[in-house]
Amino acid sequence: MIKSVESVAQEFLTPQQRCLKTPNPVKSKPVVVDKGTTPTPVEAATTQPRFCIEEHPGDQPRQIRVGVVGAGISGITAGILLPAKVPGINLTILEKNADVGGAWFENTYPGVRCDVPAHVYQSGFAPNTQWKEEFAQGTEIRQYWQDIARRYEVYKYLRLQRKVLRAEWQPNEAQWKVTIQDLRNDKIYSENFDIFITALGYFNTWRIPEFQDMDKFQGTIFHSSDWDHSVPLDGKRIALIGNGASGIQILPEIQPVAAQVDHYARSRTWIVHPPNVEGDWQRGLFTAEKLESFRDPQTYLQYRKEKEAEFFRGFATCFQNSPENDFLRQMWTASMLQRVENNTTLLNDLIPDFPPCCRRPTPGPGYLEALIKPNVELIRSGIERFARDGILAADGVERKAEIVICATGANSDLVPPFPIIGAAGLDLRAAWGADGGLYGFPYTYLGMATPGFPNALWLGGPHVVGPSGTVPNCMENQVTYIAKMIRKVRGQGIRTFVPAKKAADDFLEYCLAFFPRTVWTGNDDLTPGKANCRSWMNGGRPNGFVHGLFPGSASLANYARRDPRWEDWEYTYTNPSGNRFAYLGNGWTTREMQPDADLTPHLKQQDHIDLKSYLEGWWDV
Ligand SMILES: Cc1cc2nc3c(=O)[nH]c(=O)nc-3n(C[C@H](O)[C@H](O)[C@H](O)COP(=O)(O)OP(=O)(O)OC[C@H]3O[C@@H](n4cnc5c(N)ncnc54)[C@H](O)[C@@H]3O)c2cc1C
Ligand SMILES: NC(=O)c1ccc[n+]([C@@H]2O[C@H](COP(=O)([O-])OP(=O)(O)OC[C@H]3O[C@@H](n4cnc5c(N)ncnc54)[C@H](OP(=O)(O)O)[C@@H]3O)[C@@H](O)[C@H]2O)c1
Repeated sequence: MIKSVESVAQEFLTPQQRCLKTPNPVKSKPVVVDKGTTPTPVEAATTQPRFCIEEHPGDQPRQIRVGVVGAGISGITAGILLPAKVPGINLTILEKNADVGGAWFENTYPGVRCDVPAHVYQSGFAPNTQWKEEFAQGTEIRQYWQDIARRYEVYKYLRLQRKVLRAEWQPNEAQWKVTIQDLRNDKIYSENFDIFITALGYFNTWRIPEFQDMDKFQGTIFHSSDWDHSVPLDGKRIALIGNGASGIQILPEIQPVAAQVDHYARSRTWIVHPPNVEGDWQRGLFTAEKLESFRDPQTYLQYRKEKEAEFFRGFATCFQNSPENDFLRQMWTASMLQRVENNTTLLNDLIPDFPPCCRRPTPGPGYLEALIKPNVELIRSGIERFARDGILAADGVERKAEIVICATGANSDLVPPFPIIGAAGLDLRAAWGADGGLYGFPYTYLGMATPGFPNALWLGGPHVVGPSGTVPNCMENQVTYIAKMIRKVRGQGIRTFVPAKKAADDFLEYCLAFFPRTVWTGNDDLTPGKANCRSWMNGGRPNGFVHGLFPGSASLANYARRDPRWEDWEYTYTNPSGNRFAYLGNGWTTREMQPDADLTPHLKQQDHIDLKSYLEGWWDV
């Protein structure tokens, strides 16, 4: 039986699907439909035209709304790069704080500063040649990020003092419904986004552990990330709990003013000798002459490249028993010994059994020097309980304290601080939670997304950074990946995208095979005082799954994210027919609709042509 394309179409379509009007009907040849045989793909395409031409140019992007939660370095970077890389993007950045900066907005404790040189802890595209100190103080870092947020007009996308309470996937709309609390008036409202991106940071959900009898303590307690500046420290007996990077920075600041500091540090830690830092590295002020030299772009670029290269070259140190790791062990042992004026008793209690880099190494200017002061006691035993006016440690000694500073870090399980309910009604918190969660750790595809959570992307989340490289560079690469994803989604009629489970499983399998080579796996000897390397990289669990780092170097992380593997994602399409080419629209491009538009952007002056990028730009096609 011979049928026309049109009549076949009418048979296959429901009334709603039938095209009401078919402009410029295709003068197709009749096709033979033999009900007895399976049609070839081409025949299927021509015999099942459940699809109507969309009346728009093929390159016209679909309007979609993108919501980002968090305006720390990641959120700011998204606010700068996404509008540049996805022109016309409808972007909203929700931030609970009164201004941007994230970690650098909230952490105002005395001594807060970066522990990597400021010249590598800045954006790649808007460097500051005039950092005052090698390890810039928190205020200068905060001002820098707020300044570039202003310069690149991030504020127009920002909704400050908006706390996200919940995000829930709406399958019918293919959108995320995000419930928000306006902290200015406590009103609760919701907004829908086609794409939902979290940029919540690793350390934003700071936490004070539930120490026994803490409620009985009559003195003042606060967390280092929530510093109470109204509390005078002069002449006080202070308990400082924690020797992570925060505790290490705080000790040298409070020791000179306090009557006594009892420093509760239940784990040993490496204190880094900073490489190639000139002059007085404790404060590391740049000389006026040096700063002047940085005004020359070539000189500055050279300096910056050398500094940053040290961080990109650092990968070898993370392998178990590597010569590079052994070298650090020897170097840091010697420098620590020197800095505590050869007090071997103290050092025996502090130098770890576990290898360097298992916990994040930190230079801690002044930390070891403060430890040997007469008004400081290092207490390595854990905390038994609080008393009315002090702390009883596991060593059986009760020490008086008027102020307790908890430099006890954050929830390193990376479980989000609010429900994120995915396609099957599963809460990401229940999926990732270490205590009985579906996976029990952050289960992701390349750290960027999770099966079952369509149209959701994680920025600065699990596996984000390589152990080498720098955080800002990593964020910029991750945002660039996200920009590519958004361009694809809005440009190719994609309704939903989600990583395939098999792809996430393969990534997990790779992680599980790779990390045992590194210093973050193992080191879980439970003998008191022995190895026990616990850090946010292994979720605070010795030998726990390493979700804090990318399984590979920073350079490799950038390589893996540079060209997205589109085949690892599953898609549905906006066109009711599901036709993936529906986005081609009416066959025209937008430029062709504009009489004066340049239709030959591919033609360039010959000496401006770089064959590597020739015909690769999404912007000039
Ligand atoms: C004190 C400190 C010092 C550090 N020093 C260094 C360093 O020297 N070098 C280095 O490489 N790294 C350092 N880090 C790590 C640092 O976290 C990252 O380098 C970087 O700042 C992370 O940026 P982010 O935007 O991903 O996260 P964050 O800066 O943590 O920002 C997350 C944002 O999300 C917002 N948010 C969270 N929940 C919600 C919600 N429900 N609704 C709305 N908004 C929400 C928060 O308010 C915050 O602004 C440091 C961290 C801390 C805490
Ligand atoms: N620029 C910087 O120098 C800087 C400054 C601050 C933070 N940071 C970044 O932020 C990360 C987090 O640093 P952080 O110092 O805030 O947190 P952290 O590294 O997680 O350290 C938390 C500290 O609190 C201790 N602690 C936690 N719970 C405890 C309990 N119940 N009893 C006794 N001690 C307890 C931990 O001991 P255990 O180790 O034994 O668990 C650890 O010493 C750093 O790794 C770094 O990446 C950087």
